[in-house]
Amino acid sequence: MNATHEVGYFTEETSADVVVARNARAEDARLRQVMEVITRKLHEAVKEIEPTQEEWFKAILFLTETGQICNEWRQEYILLSDVLGVSMLVDAINNRKPSGASESTVLGPFHVAGAPELEMGADICLDRKGEPMFVHGRILDTEGRPVANARIDVWQANDEGFYDVQQKGIQPDFNLRGVFRTGEDGRYWFRGVKPKYYPIPDDGPVGKLLRALGRHPYRPAHLHYIVEAEGFEPLTTHIFDPDDPYIESDAVFGVKKSLLAEFRPVHDAEEAARVGLAAPYYDVAFDFVLSRRKAG
Ligand code: BEZ
Ligand code: FE
Repeated sequence: MNATHEVGYFTEETSADVVVARNARAEDARLRQVMEVITRKLHEAVKEIEPTQEEWFKAILFLTETGQICNEWRQEYILLSDVLGVSMLVDAINNRKPSGASESTVLGPFHVAGAPELEMGADICLDRKGEPMFVHGRILDTEGRPVANARIDVWQANDEGFYDVQQKGIQPDFNLRGVFRTGEDGRYWFRGVKPKYYPIPDDGPVGKLLRALGRHPYRPAHLHYIVEAEGFEPLTTHIFDPDDPYIESDAVFGVKKSLLAEFRPVHDAEEAARVGLAAPYYDVAFDFVLSRRKAG
C-alpha cells in the first residue's frame, strides 16, 4: 500500500480518517492538530446536513462574496466571526481573568490608533451634538489599589449611532475619541455624549445572512475602552447602557452583565456645576480593574 493510502481509499464512511492521515506529515504540530479537529468536525457536519450540490455551491458563493467585499477598512470575515459568536468565544478563551478583574469584550472595527492624548476632563465630543455625558471612575488593581499612569483609550459612536470614520466630512476627525492618563489616584474623567445603538455593517453577505436568519444587526449603545498600564494585562472592553433596546440581543454577543453601567440622568444644577456641565446630562460612573501581567 502506498504511503498516502495508510487508511485506504476515500469513502463516505472513512472520509475524515483518510484526509487526516494525508496531513500526518505536516511539520507544524499545531497546524496538524488544528486541521485534524477542523476536518473531523466539518465532515461530521456535512454528514449530518447532507447538502445538495446546489446548497454546497451556495455556501461556496457566500464565502466568495465575503472575501470579495473585504478591503483595507472592511473585514467581512471578522464580522462573520462576530455574528457566529466565535470572536467572543476566542476572546473568552484568551482573557480568562482572576476574580474581581474587569471582563473583556470585542475590539470591533472602529478603533483608530493615534487618537489625541487629552487633559483629564476634556470633552471628546468635538461637534457638541447630542446629550452631554460625564464619564468617570478609577483604574484599580485586583486588591483595590489605584493604578497610576494607566493609559485609557476611549472611543464611541455619536448620538445617531455613527463613528467619525463612518461619517468623514460630517463629523470632525477624531470626534468622540481620546486618550487619557491616570495620576497617582488612578482616577479618570471626561465628557462625551450619550451614545446610541447602531447596526454593524449590514450591506454585505453577513447582513444578508442575518436577515435570512431573522436577526437584526444592532449593537446596544456602548463606549469602547483599551486600558493599559505597566505590569498589567491590557484590557479591551466596553461599558453598555443597560436601558438600551438591544441590550439583550447584541448582534455580536459582546454584552456581559459586569459591563453594564448606569447612565444616570442629572437634572440638578449644583451637581452639574461641580463637574463643569450644565444640567441636564448623564452621569456614568465605572471602575476598571486590571489583572497583573502573567509571568512569561
Ligand atoms: C463595534 O462595537 O464597534 C463593533 C464590534 C463588532 C462588529 C462591528 C462593530
Ligand atoms: Fe462599537
